[in-house]
Amino acid sequence: MKSLSAAQQTIKTLLQSAPVGSRVEVKAWIRTRRDSGSLSFLELNDGSCLASLQVVAEGDLDNYESEVRRLTTGCAVCVRGELVASPAKGQEVELKAAALEVVGWADPEHYPLQKKRHSFEFLRSISHLRARTNALGGVTRVRSALNFGIHRFFREQGFFQVQTPVITTSDCEGAGEMFTVTALEPEAIRGEDPFARDFFQRRAGLTVSGQLQAEIFALSHGRVYTFGPTFRAENSNTSRHLAEFWMLEPEMAFCDLRGNMDLAEEMIKNLVAMVLEECGDDLDLFNRFVSKGLLQRLETIRSKPFVRMTYSEAVRELEKAAREFEFPVQWGGDLQAEHERYLCEEVAGVPVIVTNYPQTIKPFYMRLDEGGETVAAMDILVPGIGELVGGSQREERYEVLKARMIEAGLDLEEYGWYLDLRRYGSVPHAGFGLGFERLVQLVTGMQNIRDVIPFPRTPGNAPC
Ligand code: 4AD
Ligand code: MG
Repeated sequence: MKSLSAAQQTIKTLLQSAPVGSRVEVKAWIRTRRDSGSLSFLELNDGSCLASLQVVAEGDLDNYESEVRRLTTGCAVCVRGELVASPAKGQEVELKAAALEVVGWADPEHYPLQKKRHSFEFLRSISHLRARTNALGGVTRVRSALNFGIHRFFREQGFFQVQTPVITTSDCEGAGEMFTVTALEPEAIRGEDPFARDFFQRRAGLTVSGQLQAEIFALSHGRVYTFGPTFRAENSNTSRHLAEFWMLEPEMAFCDLRGNMDLAEEMIKNLVAMVLEECGDDLDLFNRFVSKGLLQRLETIRSKPFVRMTYSEAVRELEKAAREFEFPVQWGGDLQAEHERYLCEEVAGVPVIVTNYPQTIKPFYMRLDEGGETVAAMDILVPGIGELVGGSQREERYEVLKARMIEAGLDLEEYGWYLDLRRYGSVPHAGFGLGFERLVQLVTGMQNIRDVIPFPRTPGNAPC
């Protein structure tokens, strides 16, 4: 067995690979303390895994009465000792303390996390401490695993990562949801074109999507992706919307809508398989306490082909549904979350890819289908959430794109660079955007998107 350096000695590595009899040092936080005669049992968690390590502290420790017996939930400690076989159920080993140092006390009168279960709502009010709970701790680990899995997947597929700007002057989705970035004092923002006097000498904002810039690199490097924070000033107080979220956006040259769908489906399956394999303990916990049936749903996503249908077919399915929707369904209207969930939860039983939406409800850059009524769009809908992915084949024909931009009221000069990509060596290309927090929701079963991002930003809420 390879020996572990002190820095590697997390509870996870100890439980996985340290044999009984090893002398180890563990730095962690106390979950609970239980006394029995002149012995104390401490549950230690260091965030490296769901499992806690049991420490047995005996009365002959120097500081047993003065400190060990005063330890409470949340205190930070460093324990040295020997791993021994544990007589207790549910754990193979425990740590017999030879020395215990208190690194940081946590006043039990005020420490807000107690052994009982807290509501996610309450935990949101203590975003600086909630990562120490089992559920939010698990979310943090799964999120990190997915993040790594994304980079691994794209690297293996020959993609390059490009960093697209956070501050931008182009509004990709054209939905007027950009946060303005300004260096002007509030009182200076008045009169005609105040932003001409601003830092960038024009109006700039926080990106709503890195797609347009990713297209630049797809048309030089073939297969690229961008993955970073994305901002939308939409006033949606729902369990699936954030004002700041992370979006993954691959973009591929010489690729059509079908290639785009194939990549998205393969990627989602790959990521779900990865977390099933690597985050088993956390997923078990989510399956038991957060979302019953989660593991079954993930297994279905991993193993069964997604159903593909056009928007028109989806509308027909919704029209014949034996159920009332809050929002009526009509060809030409956007699908609401209730429709999206119905399609994948009740019609298909697997994720659904809906294609060829009416052009009137989609942005200017999507490739116009023959006939001109629909565009080569695709949304991937998943159970419990609705839209996880939005993507399309891009309009690569100069004249068609130009006409669409004029129709959308875009300033052709400002977007001249985007049109240029169609003037010089234009090729069919496609890509999509996946909302990373919605993926974390899908994989953990967490109901509210605010609980799968460390610091949720929503209307009226940005506390730190
Ligand atoms: O469908 P959207 O708006 O697509 C785009 O922005 C394209 N430019 C992407 C592309 O083709 N490169 O957003 C993509 C995904 C949605 O499917 C959703 O999962 C997520 O981003 N998303 C949000 N997630 C959390 N909060 C919000 N307010 C979101 N808005 C979109
Ligand atoms: Mg969308």
